[in-house]
Amino acid sequence: MTSCHAQPKPKSLPQDALPCSPSADVQGSWVLLTAGGVVIVVLPGSIMSKALQGLLILALAGLNYLPQACVAEGSPEWAYPVNPPEFKLAPDDGVMRHVPGSTVEYLLPQLRDRFLAPDWHPAEHQPMPSVVAKGRKPDVSACAFCHRAEGTGGPENASIAGLPFAYIMQQMADFKSGARSTAVSKRVPQTLMIAGAKAISDEDAREAASYFSSLKPRANITVVESETVPKTYVTAWILAKSRSNELEPIGQRIIELPDNLEDFEHRDGYATFTAYVPPSSLKRGEILVSGQNAAKAPACAQCHGQDLRGIGEIPSIAGRSPMPLITMLRSTRLSKPSK
Ligand code: HEC
Ligand code: HEC
Repeated sequence: MTSCHAQPKPKSLPQDALPCSPSADVQGSWVLLTAGGVVIVVLPGSIMSKALQGLLILALAGLNYLPQACVAEGSPEWAYPVNPPEFKLAPDDGVMRHVPGSTVEYLLPQLRDRFLAPDWHPAEHQPMPSVVAKGRKPDVSACAFCHRAEGTGGPENASIAGLPFAYIMQQMADFKSGARSTAVSKRVPQTLMIAGAKAISDEDAREAASYFSSLKPRANITVVESETVPKTYVTAWILAKSRSNELEPIGQRIIELPDNLEDFEHRDGYATFTAYVPPSSLKRGEILVSGQNAAKAPACAQCHGQDLRGIGEIPSIAGRSPMPLITMLRSTRLSKPSK
């Protein structure tokens, strides 16, 4: 059984505007585009084309809501890594942890405390507001514990540096109201994000949104087209390179791996990632994103700005980690259009 409309949707939505074929994205082509060597966006062409048609239909009809992406139970495992039951964090060894280019140090238990966001490069950004650095016990975890002090996030959540203030506020409100949810409910990062959004005060939400929207996004992802990828295992809600150094066919997957697992585990916002994608993905993505295949999708720049780095309340889709963009597109109800 598939549940394509997990959230209630406005009565006025035309049914055919909603993408509801659960396997369409698995079989569909993955597309992405680079700008200055940085990944812009990766998404299942088939889902997005229908979503966009719907989006345009609704925008034109002047309705108050954009369509909800289809939430299918057959979510591909590679896009939603779930820790195996036997997963255990390594025990604390009492050794101080460091990351490149920083003199700051933390102990392992500090790096695992969701009410303490490590601040490895404090001189590089303005001081974090309290809710970003420490959260509010018991339900609001420190935003930067997950999204990093630099807002760069990781494959297990989302880069939010430089997103428009109004967009961040809207997402928080949507998580709170339940309008925005997640496709795979047993993933802890999403569960804690939603719990925090439900409990956060308006003032804290505003402070967090101002902080993250003032940050400059960092280019931290290299995209590599390849027939084969390293074998992987799931650790802490992401895929990591298997120690065996074996390769396997990529198939129709995107495999995004931290270049250095320790920097990732230490929640360093300067950590870098490599996203492996199937051959010819970049070209196909460019065709779709630039609007050359108008039957499939209009040019993304029409709404996301010429450089795709966002405009007004519409978020940037350039240079952001492909995995979260996929999970968010698949699970996110699109909110009310900005005026
Ligand atoms: C436990 C980890 C965690 C914490 C703590 C957390 N988030 Fe998130 N956040 C996530 C995850 C995971 C997602 C992706 C949700 C999805 O899949 O739709 C997300 C998504 C978001 C988004 C949507 C991004 C987009 O591009 O649509 C915003 C905005 C956001 N978080 C802001 C915050 C703020 C502000 C705080 C602090 C009050 C916070 N988050 C705390 C994990 C976290
Ligand atoms: C008609 C206007 C419009 C067009 C055209 C459009 N988008 Fe969007 N897009 C939006 C809006 C509005 C949002 C924010 C929805 C919300 O507030 O939840 C969005 C959100 C997104 C997101 C989610 C970002 C995040 O942070 O969660 C992605 C990814 C995305 N668009 C990709 C694309 C791609 C790729 C194209 C071109 C193929 C495209 N969009 C074309 C209006 C548009």
